[in-house]
Amino acid sequence: MSKERVLITAALPYANGPIHLGHAVEYIQADIYTRFLKLKGFDVIYCCADDTHGTPIEVNAMKAGMTPETFVKYWYERHVKDFRDILVEFDSYYTTNSEENKKFSDMIFMTLKEKGYIYTKTIRQLYCPKCKRFLPDRFVKGKCPKCGADDQYGDVCEKCGTTYKPADLVNPYCSICKATPVAKDSKHYFFRLSAFSDKLREWLTNKDIQPDIKNYVLSWIDKGLEDWCISRDSPYFGFKIPGEKDKYYYVWLDAPVGYIASTANYCKKHGCSAMDYWKSSHSKIIHFIGKDIAYFHLIFWPAVLMASGFKTPDDVVVHGFLTVNKEKMSKSRGTFITVRKYVESLEPEYLRYHYASNLTHSVSDIDLSFEDFKNRVNNELIGNIANFIYRTLSFVKKYCNSRLGKFELSGEEKDIYDKILKKVEEIDEYYSKYEFREVVKRILEISSLGNRYFQENQPWVIVKTNKEKCINVLTFSANIVKILCIVLKPILPKFVREIEKQLNVSGLKWDDYKKPVEHKEIGDVEIVFRKIDKIDFSDPFSAVDLKVARIADVSEHPNADKLYILQIDLGKEKRQIVSGLRQNYKKNELKGKNIVVVTNLKHANIRGVKSEGMLLAAEDGKNVGLLLCDDSPGSDVLVEGLSKKPVKEVDIKHILKLGIVAKNGKALYRGRVLKTYNCEVYVDKKIEGCVR
Ligand code: 2FM
Ligand code: ZN
Repeated sequence: MSKERVLITAALPYANGPIHLGHAVEYIQADIYTRFLKLKGFDVIYCCADDTHGTPIEVNAMKAGMTPETFVKYWYERHVKDFRDILVEFDSYYTTNSEENKKFSDMIFMTLKEKGYIYTKTIRQLYCPKCKRFLPDRFVKGKCPKCGADDQYGDVCEKCGTTYKPADLVNPYCSICKATPVAKDSKHYFFRLSAFSDKLREWLTNKDIQPDIKNYVLSWIDKGLEDWCISRDSPYFGFKIPGEKDKYYYVWLDAPVGYIASTANYCKKHGCSAMDYWKSSHSKIIHFIGKDIAYFHLIFWPAVLMASGFKTPDDVVVHGFLTVNKEKMSKSRGTFITVRKYVESLEPEYLRYHYASNLTHSVSDIDLSFEDFKNRVNNELIGNIANFIYRTLSFVKKYCNSRLGKFELSGEEKDIYDKILKKVEEIDEYYSKYEFREVVKRILEISSLGNRYFQENQPWVIVKTNKEKCINVLTFSANIVKILCIVLKPILPKFVREIEKQLNVSGLKWDDYKKPVEHKEIGDVEIVFRKIDKIDFSDPFSAVDLKVARIADVSEHPNADKLYILQIDLGKEKRQIVSGLRQNYKKNELKGKNIVVVTNLKHANIRGVKSEGMLLAAEDGKNVGLLLCDDSPGSDVLVEGLSKKPVKEVDIKHILKLGIVAKNGKALYRGRVLKTYNCEVYVDKKIEGCVR
């Protein structure tokens, strides 16, 4: 690649839900590639945006009681934070619901129209008379016409795999309101995709893209391309078609235009023009996408670009799906992991490292198996790489008074150094070819060479007999650390920034790999990464076993004047718990009340009396109010959307960390009300504050 402007994009996520670890594969892959090019000194930007239009967003906004604008703003803010927290750094993160996007979409549409690539035609579609809307395929459900399976979507049967039209479903119904849809006519706009078959074929044939994908897409063209319907009827959230009252661009028309709009958003702040990227022969456009949207990016989008006078993408890098423990991510198996959930418990760079170690320039799926993830992080990233870095730097501090000596290559070191330089050159090539797995392999080899050298030369021994040699050994090792910093930087930007500070070489560029660090003082040395001991993405609330219990009897604790001993009835069993309520409740006020108890709390002996659980109460600093529930003793207490998976024993710290709060007379866990299947938990005396 010559030193031209490069634009990298990743697919625009729908503003319709959280970013999860499946999405993260692509954003991290493209981020690593961008960071690599920047490190090499290329003029490169990484642009993306939220994809904000379409029926699902409009319907979900309605269900959430929000306007679509508020709804997409809500998700936009979350997406921005999610990307920041996995260290995905965009030069522009925009939205398709922007002025620029409307401008470019209209401009493209008008050009297509003027050139005769657009025509209208009346088509018949399913319409829900109750919702008063045309139903996209995914909003019609019914019996599969082939195998008879119930509740199948209008495009494909998940049981037998047959594809069909929504109208083919037996007993179709509207998935929003369950009413029976009727067929209705409407005029629509079509893009003459069929006119681009030859141009697309030629374009693809000459393009250096992944062979599987190329053949796949060429086979679609060979089967014959159908013209593409690019309009939708209201109600819809999107851009109105110029000159129309109730028709909108189909989301897939304006979504990829969002790439251009996001570039424009960058350029308005950096004194360039989106056309420097989208109409120039001195630019390179690289899209990163998942295999599910290859059709859009290798057929529709290039055809639209060709037809409207823009340049077509130079490369489209397609990746496979993410599996978790070798299976599709699934909410019920607890393997649907959002970025938010991930970053709450683990370092973002562990994920980046794991993904990099698995990513190749192929469309095969990549797996996040927890065992493998943990082993890689603990043994490779920490055990091999981070450990070598820490040992080297902490020894420089300890034995060399934090000062590096002269960088000198004797026979042995020359040998190792040559090997390392050769690996750096290979790494450079593998990064350029999106072969990150090969990159990581070689980084580990460099680190292993470093570890072996360090171990064999025993600086901790020779420091006593040959201080000068010891300084040489550590200076040479520190130069390997510097090289590791450079090659690791695209994958572990935060870690490397920290190590650069420790080594006192901030802002390393790729070309610095041959420039030695010597005769200088290093910074403070600290351990950066800690090993993972267990991986658990289940919600901490699920681990707790909360039940309704009736207070059967109350007595004073013989050895503590603030404590009561309560005999409680849990339906199937009776227990005894000790509780500090004596200043807040009289004995007769407690008896007969239905309270909420943690039944899997580690049993304790409190001042000589055994306690088999704890009750929950709210406190505002002065007063205490019990959590109460009118359901029968023994009923499970939970929150909406979280299934119970109680562990054998939780400790009190676990309960305190949950952060349950009392507000408006209700008890809330992360904004969700505590309840049994039949009724909500309420807070006695409407006390507001923390629950414990
Ligand atoms: O499949 C998706 O999630 C789409 N939101 C991707 C759009 S990418 C681009 F074309 F806008
Ligand atoms: Zn309906």
